[in-house]
Amino acid sequence: MKMFLDSAQVDEIRHALEVWDIDGLTTNPRHVMTSGKPFRQVIGEIAELFAGTDKPLSVEVNPHLTDWEQIVEEGTELSKLSPNFVIKVGASESGFRAIRELARRGIRTNATLIFTTTQAWHAARSEATFVSPFLGWKEQHGDPADALIPEVAAMLEEFDYPTQIIAAAIRNARQMADAALAGAHCVTAGFSVYEQSFKNPYTHFGEQVFCDAWDATAHTDQQVTGGC
Ligand code: E4P
Repeated sequence: MKMFLDSAQVDEIRHALEVWDIDGLTTNPRHVMTSGKPFRQVIGEIAELFAGTDKPLSVEVNPHLTDWEQIVEEGTELSKLSPNFVIKVGASESGFRAIRELARRGIRTNATLIFTTTQAWHAARSEATFVSPFLGWKEQHGDPADALIPEVAAMLEEFDYPTQIIAAAIRNARQMADAALAGAHCVTAGFSVYEQSFKNPYTHFGEQVFCDAWDATAHTDQQVTGGC
């Protein structure tokens, strides 16, 4: 399963590329707003970080657009700015129509704001490259999300759709593992969610045990203490 960061913060993205070797990035209008920079500036800065790689970088078209031809026009223009760009389009009747036309033009897409298996099916039929079920948002509104990734994965496999699942709006390490086991091709999560996912209290406890043992052991080189 591929690891995508969900962010528009250049410092976070640089760290995630250099230290975690992330496989790609997703952004959305809220992340861009949080960056405090104009849209074109921030996507340009992010694109530079990915230059020379084949890692996908999802950027979203203006969410106000409801006319599919306008979505195609903007998506086509954005796609010319970087070979890494994947055009993120909201799940809607006109969004799916736009995705179909973008696919016909050879432009990769990410169908976003997916909450049902049927929406994912529409996206796959429209030849979306990626489909992004938002697990965290479903759960936040009291709607069980456990079945969504397994159902979408089974549907894609059953009908041989090449569309890849990005398990999105992931809030914790358990959801990451569940998404992987259910057949998601990629996961996208925020910086702090990944930071937490590296940690475990037992690991921390074990480090203390081993450091104590190390300190109580005779070493031929200088005794090491206090490093944990
Ligand atoms: C995914 O592509 C979305 O950008 C993301 O998961 C949205 O959810 P969040 O910002 O609430 O995590």
